[in-house]
Amino acid sequence: MVVTKSKRLFLRFLTYSDQITLTLLFADPDVMRFGDGPRSPEWVQDWLRHTLDSYARRGYGPWAVVEKASGETIGYCGLFHYPDVNGRAEIEIGYRLARACWGQGYATEAVMAARDYAFNALGLTRLIALIDPANVASLRVATKAGLRHEADALLPGYTYPDRVYVIERGQGG
Ligand SMILES: CC(C)(COP(=O)(O)OP(=O)(O)OC[C@H]1O[C@@H](n2cnc3c(N)ncnc32)[C@H](O)[C@@H]1OP(=O)(O)O)[C@@H](O)C(=O)NCCC(=O)NCCS
Repeated sequence: MVVTKSKRLFLRFLTYSDQITLTLLFADPDVMRFGDGPRSPEWVQDWLRHTLDSYARRGYGPWAVVEKASGETIGYCGLFHYPDVNGRAEIEIGYRLARACWGQGYATEAVMAARDYAFNALGLTRLIALIDPANVASLRVATKAGLRHEADALLPGYTYPDRVYVIERGQGG
């Protein structure tokens, strides 16, 4: 089911039929460079189960990013619930695209579509992005989508803090 559309992309709900595409995405060391490294097929299955659970419980989660021209699923972009970032519950906008699709403005386009859907359709009032300070491309995507550096946060399991980028409804993009 389609969630929202942009000029070249649409976002749709992920399903178990996306398992192979996601397994390839999460297995790529370039794509996972700023995460905890490549992930196993079992890890991806768990991630997908959590995603479907998030759709049912919260009405959002990470969505598939589909290139309209090819019909290919090129990654994900969507919303993640964090119970505690510097003492407050937050909703993060997260994104990850296949290496072959980088550098065409797709992440920015997907983030803007997810941002607008979150504010206008879901009625959310604040979104954050948690970004490794060395991830220059992601910092740039967040900035282009209208997010601003607000604070840093050391998340459980991490050895150094992420940047917390923020946008609030009405701030524009
Ligand atoms: C981060 C990611 C989503 C960006 O996807 P993308 O479709 O290439 O992003 P866009 O084309 O919309 O924008 C990327 C911007 O970063 C810039 N950029 C990319 N690599 C860069 C680098 N090494 N140094 C400086 N700028 C860089 C691009 O020039 C572009 O900015 P511009 O439009 O001003 O020229 C993609 O690289 C990815 O999936 N990475 C792995 C997963 C990840 O890190 N996700 C984010 C976790 S917070």
